[in-house]
Amino acid sequence: MSNFVVSARKYRPQTFDTVVGQSSITTTLKNAIKNDHLAQAFLFFGSRGVGKTTTARILAKTINCSNLGSDIEPCNQCESCTSFNEGHSFNILELDAASNNSVDDIRNLIDQVRIAPQIGNHKIFIIDEVHMLSSSAFNAFLKTLEEPPKHAIFILATTEKHKILPTILSRCQIFDFHRIQIDAIVGQLQSIATKEKIKVDEKGLHVIAQKADGAMRDALSIFDQIVSFSNQNVTYEAVLENLNVLDYDYYFKVIAAALDEKIADNLLIFNEILAKGFDGSQFILGLSEHLRNLLVCKDQATLELIEVPTEIKELYFQQSKVSSQAFIVLALDLLRDTDIHYRASKNKRLSIEIALMKLCSIQALLKTKQ
Ligand SMILES: Nc1ncnc2c1ncn2[C@@H]1O[C@H](COP(=O)(O)OP(=O)(O)O)[C@@H](O)[C@H]1O
Ligand SMILES: [Mg+2]
Ligand SMILES: [Zn+2]
Repeated sequence: MSNFVVSARKYRPQTFDTVVGQSSITTTLKNAIKNDHLAQAFLFFGSRGVGKTTTARILAKTINCSNLGSDIEPCNQCESCTSFNEGHSFNILELDAASNNSVDDIRNLIDQVRIAPQIGNHKIFIIDEVHMLSSSAFNAFLKTLEEPPKHAIFILATTEKHKILPTILSRCQIFDFHRIQIDAIVGQLQSIATKEKIKVDEKGLHVIAQKADGAMRDALSIFDQIVSFSNQNVTYEAVLENLNVLDYDYYFKVIAAALDEKIADNLLIFNEILAKGFDGSQFILGLSEHLRNLLVCKDQATLELIEVPTEIKELYFQQSKVSSQAFIVLALDLLRDTDIHYRASKNKRLSIEIALMKLCSIQALLKTKQ
């Protein structure tokens, strides 16, 4: 285990095409390079772990690559690419503003900006977490950004665009990095698992992707954790256990019992859930999400809004067919109320039990109204 490299580092994309889920950004950047329309300053903005630093490095390498093919990807072989990959490039400099945020740090960088590149045409400065610069450092940097020498290109990255001075923003071409979709994360995990010869279960990968909330880095760290926990066998059960997530199956059962008006069944299921150590409010939120998925399944137009594994999708279809729209909407309303009052409730268990009883009474209520 001594030479174990975490997946987030081992699988950092080295070319534009391998960056997952950001194709509109990578295509725009490639076109700009191809047409020689490169801006002098970029700002990459988006939540953490979505590929900002990765893309900044690829862009920097591509601009300086001496062996650029027609696909506009860095070759990762020429002297410029390899020296950057090995961390001693003179033409691509990276400043992590999270740990180097003083005026002196920026002055050092500005000194570097003035010196023209020895090889190649461009000198590229990546300033990561740029919102962390102190305000005096920001001001010192502003002058350079206003009138940069021709050879200088700046790539700024941040998770907090609102902390960047408008004068800086107005000088940058801004790229908004989106959270990565669940399917795309699952695909990436699957391809890494194949390369690492790790057994995985698609359902399990989905739960990991959901937990990662759009951040690939988080998905990879969770994945690593479960790989070691499960002895290289990422089953659905192992993921649920490790992440303390409730099996989809419980929600299907609760709704089936509600449709059949079986209060006793639901009280017993809920008892089992509590016995497993799950928290009531987590259950209410999960059940609401489940109902939302059922509703989304009812209409072809909203079908793409459901993000669950393929084999579970079929189960959603089946249950959505037997649940009326009125039932789902009333149930969602009821759960929302329960959630709002849950925190203040003195008997939390009872408040959910009451909700379950009401849930089992919706069908009867709807029948009397017909
Ligand atoms: N869009 C993506 N495609 C593939 N891997 C990604 C992507 N975004 C992040 N990663 C993974 O997460 C790690 C950290 O990504 P990074 O680019 O540093 O994120 P950010 O700078 O947005 O916080 C990368 O090394 C890579 O393994
Ligand atoms: Mg980063
Ligand atoms: Zn190259």
